[in-house]
Amino acid sequence: MSTIRDVAKSAQVSVATVSRVINKSGYVHPDTVKKVMNVIEELNYKPSSIAVSLNNKKTKTIGLILPDIRNPFFPELSKGIEDLAKESGYTVILCNSDGNIEDELKHIKILEQKYVDGIILASNTLEYSHIQEYSKPIVLLDRTIKEQVSSVSSQNFLGAQLATKHLLEIGCKRIAHICGPKDVMTAKQRLEGYMDIIGNEDWFSNQLIENGDYNIKPAYQATMNLFDKNPDIDGIFAGNDLMAVGCLKALHKLGKSVPEDVALIGFDGIDFTEITIPELSTIAQPIYEMGYVAMKMLIDQMESEQVQKENKLLDVKLVVRDSTKRKGVFTDE
Ligand code: RIB
Repeated sequence: MSTIRDVAKSAQVSVATVSRVINKSGYVHPDTVKKVMNVIEELNYKPSSIAVSLNNKKTKTIGLILPDIRNPFFPELSKGIEDLAKESGYTVILCNSDGNIEDELKHIKILEQKYVDGIILASNTLEYSHIQEYSKPIVLLDRTIKEQVSSVSSQNFLGAQLATKHLLEIGCKRIAHICGPKDVMTAKQRLEGYMDIIGNEDWFSNQLIENGDYNIKPAYQATMNLFDKNPDIDGIFAGNDLMAVGCLKALHKLGKSVPEDVALIGFDGIDFTEITIPELSTIAQPIYEMGYVAMKMLIDQMESEQVQKENKLLDVKLVVRDSTKRKGVFTDE
């Protein structure tokens, strides 16, 4: 007996397209509809009545795909999603992808087979071509792809400018940046914000930038590398708080006092920043609100056919703590 995959393969389209043709849900080019219908007839494919009814019915579940559930940023983000989901009668199916495109494509297929009513995708590997065939509502979180896909992210570029300016204001003369993975949009935007402020300084060199991969241990090593090449660094902007924690440990190992020898600021505003010694200054993202707003956007799309796609950019905030409070230097927070 032919399956939906046989039809998709023979018609050279995705399973999602065949599903959309069968269920008359979402746009499919008329030529494609005709091609798929011909193949369905040729193969004598009989869609399962359960599948057809399920696809048209609401299962009141949504899929959430995250790149790294070990990073405290993402559980906080998920809390905002989960709280509104609970209030609105939805169940959340959490998928962790380790930022791996194969896993993300697999998760989307599995979520389709579970007939979730929509997906929130907080990832950086999938491109528009990977998700445009997905027939249900999708909201991107922490990044944007195209205006056609709704998204919620925060002011990464502006926040990086704030962090770098803050280090200049407290008197830093040689500021380094520990950046996140080069293919992650938020890391790129924060690097651009840092470069916008100090890229034209006569003391700037690319040796003042090291990749910390958004994690503690790589950031520890990145800090060691920075001081191997630039012993006179006196300020560091880490592109997220986990890297700032790794950096802090390396500075301690190097015998550098914080903030007197080296001032340090992170990005995210996770709770860890309040338990390190010294407590870490950071650029706080509205993490919970980002998740909550993304879930609200998805519910609007799932529960009403015609909803205007929107790309929301939420504000970030400079939080000054001991890691940048130098004696005798006072700045506005
Ligand atoms: O700490 C994880 C980082 O990945 C956060 O800064 C968040 O913006 C995501 O891009």
